[in-house]
Formats: sequence, structure tokens, C-alpha cells
Amino acid sequence: MFDPCKVREDFPILKRKINNHPLIYFDNAASSQKPRQVIEAIKNFYENHNANVHRAVHTLSQEASQLYEDAHEEVAKFINANGIEEIIFVRGTTEAINLVAYAWGLRNLKKGDDVIVSLMEHHSNIVPWEILSNINGFNIKYAEVNNDGTLNYEDFESKISSKTKIVCYSHVSNVTGVINDVKRIAKVAHEYGALTLVDGAQSVPHLPVNVKDLDIDFLAFSGHKMLGPTGIGCLYGKRELLEGMAPFHGGGEMMREVSYNPKTKRCSISWNDLPWKFEAGTPNVGGGVGLMEAIKYLKKLGMENVKEHECNMTEYAMKRLSECRKVEVYGPKDTSIKCGIIPFGVDGLSSHDVALFLDNYGIMVRSGFHCAQPLHQIFKLSSSARVSFYIYNIRREIDRFIEVLKEIELI
Ligand SMILES: Cc1ncc(COP(=O)(O)O)c(C=O)c1O
Repeated sequence: MFDPCKVREDFPILKRKINNHPLIYFDNAASSQKPRQVIEAIKNFYENHNANVHRAVHTLSQEASQLYEDAHEEVAKFINANGIEEIIFVRGTTEAINLVAYAWGLRNLKKGDDVIVSLMEHHSNIVPWEILSNINGFNIKYAEVNNDGTLNYEDFESKISSKTKIVCYSHVSNVTGVINDVKRIAKVAHEYGALTLVDGAQSVPHLPVNVKDLDIDFLAFSGHKMLGPTGIGCLYGKRELLEGMAPFHGGGEMMREVSYNPKTKRCSISWNDLPWKFEAGTPNVGGGVGLMEAIKYLKKLGMENVKEHECNMTEYAMKRLSECRKVEVYGPKDTSIKCGIIPFGVDGLSSHDVALFLDNYGIMVRSGFHCAQPLHQIFKLSSSARVSFYIYNIRREIDRFIEVLKEIELI
């Protein structure tokens, strides 16, 4: 197990004071902080290797292209994909899901088809399917979530049928931290010939994820939630599926040839190889370099250790939160089925009031509905406050958080 106090030394921002208090950053599910190794790698890229990729024969372009390809390779190994052909760099989870919806869904979904989406999804795994359903006329069936925030597997599985074309669900809920049995759902979906799209935004940064073992077809995740910079994320897709799909965006670098036919007065186009077919235009090369360094950092810690540290933090925080008279923790109390995230409320106060009070003491927590309104409807809540942990959080911070919560209770 790594020493989180040592890890903290790598994160310059953790030295900051906010409102004269040491920063306590508990909003990691929204975005993680960045170690100096990642910041340095990005700086080094722009100071020494910056150029456009895959376009020029000059040295800098060759170096930038190599780094960008290495970054794909690093991601592929991290999630046990077959190679860079299966790794498409996008802006983040949202864009990755939209890519599947538009590049695959637009052409393959029609009236009479079913798309199954769980009700615990982040809006980014609901809204694209609703938009597309209004265009293509397919049906969306929402799989139910139990009152405690766990997935209702019986309901989910009963909704999958031969009409189901794709099943969309998160690996870990961004509201409750509940870990879903991805493999179980994927097995049933595949029995009916349906594809699986897993939102890994809250799993890939926090626990080992092996796409072959899970046997999923698509996996979406964001670099900024896993120590990397903003504006870079990934879509994993099984090679044979990506090969059969038309591109999402058209433009430079995603095609092999564009030739004008004077007779038809049209251009005919052939697509580039994977993954470039899906990466139109100048990509976020610096972001890719930063993500590669972030993955190297996480690999050094070991993803099993990352998970264990966050589970320990969650268990300790749940225990300490139970001391607070006016605090209600939402979602399952069983810490063995969740990781790293705790939603809660303080009796008589809005979630924003709680977050603002904590902010006065330098403690950053999220408030609102965390882009998951349907799940809040199930909890009969309009919003919640949320703490979410990462590799640099320590028990002392939880103790301080509880101390301040007890002051809030006196209001
Ligand atoms: C589960 C989940 N899915 C999707 C997203 C969207 O990620 P991004 O904003 O990086 O595209 C988030 C972000 O909070 C999330 O937690």
C-alpha cells in the first residue's frame, strides 16, 4: 500500500490555503487534482516537442506523433485493450458516449428497437439517447434503481430482449459510488445479441478495469478525473465494431483519400485506419501526453491499492458521519458494494448552503444533483452534498470535515 502523505507531496495545489484554512479537496468525482509529474510532462511537451501530429515529415512533428501514439498505447495497456486501434481520444466521457450514439446509433437504431439505460446514469448517458430516439424513433427502456441506490438487476435483465440493440450503464455511480456488476449485465446483453456501453468515468480512475475480463463493447472515461488534464478522454471500442462504424466527425486526418470526380461533381472519401478514423482535426496532443503521465503515476501506485485506499477512506468517513445528529447519508450504507463517494444532506439546510459553509473552512465538496437528476428523483431529493475521495486524501481531513459538520449542526 502506498503512503497517501507521500503522495500529497506530488500535488502542488494541496499546499494552498483557502479562506485561511488548508485546502481539503473532496470533489474528486467532479475532477481530480494533478501531480507535478503530469504538469511537468505537459510543460515539457510544449517547451520541447510541440508540433502538429501525423502531418509533417520534420523532426518535431515526428516526436509529437510518437508521443501521441505512445499515449494511446499506455491507455490500451491500462485497460487491457488489444491495441491502439481500440482507443479513440476524445474530449471526455460525454464526447465518447456521443460518439457511440451518433457514429453507431444513428445508423443502426430504428423504430421497434430498444435501448436500455439505467436510471442511475449521469445525464451524459441519458441525453444523447433521448436526442437520438427523437430522430430515429427507437424506444428507450429505463432500468430501475432500488430505493437505496443499487441497481435493480432483475428489472434490468427482464427489460433486455431480442429487440434490445444496446445496453448503457455506468460501472460506478457518480452519486453514490455504488459499483455495478458490469459483467453480469454484459453477459445477459450478449445472450440477446445486444451491445454494451459502459460509462467508466468513475471506475477507470479508481479501480482496476479490464475490458477483456468485463467483456464489454464500449467503455467511456475522462482524463481529468484520473490525474490527467481537462479536454482529453477515451472511448474504448472492440476493434471489429469500430471497423464497421462510419466516422463521427469529418475533417482532416480521419480520411485516407478525398478525390473529386468531375463527372459526378462529388468527392469520394476513404477512411483512415483505426483509431485515427474517429479523430478528425488536430487532436489534443498535449492532453494525451498528460494523460499518459497520469496513467504511469496511477500504475506505480497500483490500481488495487488505489481502490483499497479509497474504500478505507469511505468506511472511515461513513463511521464518523454516523456521529453527526443532523446528517443523513444517502444511498447504500454497505461500504463493500461502493467506493470513494458519499452523498449526504444536513437537516434544514440546502446542499449549496452546506457546501458554502464547508468552503469557509477550506473544504471543497460538491452540491446539487451532480448531473444525475433521475437518481435524485428516486431518492426524493432535489439535491445532495457529496464528498468523493482520491489517492491524496487522508483521515485527518475527514476528522476536520466532521468537526466542521458538527459546527454546521449547531446553526
Ligand atoms: C459517471 C459520469 N459519467 C459521465 C461524466 C461526464 O464526464 P465529462 O464531463 O468529463 O465528459 C461524469 C462526470 O462527472 C460522470 O461522473
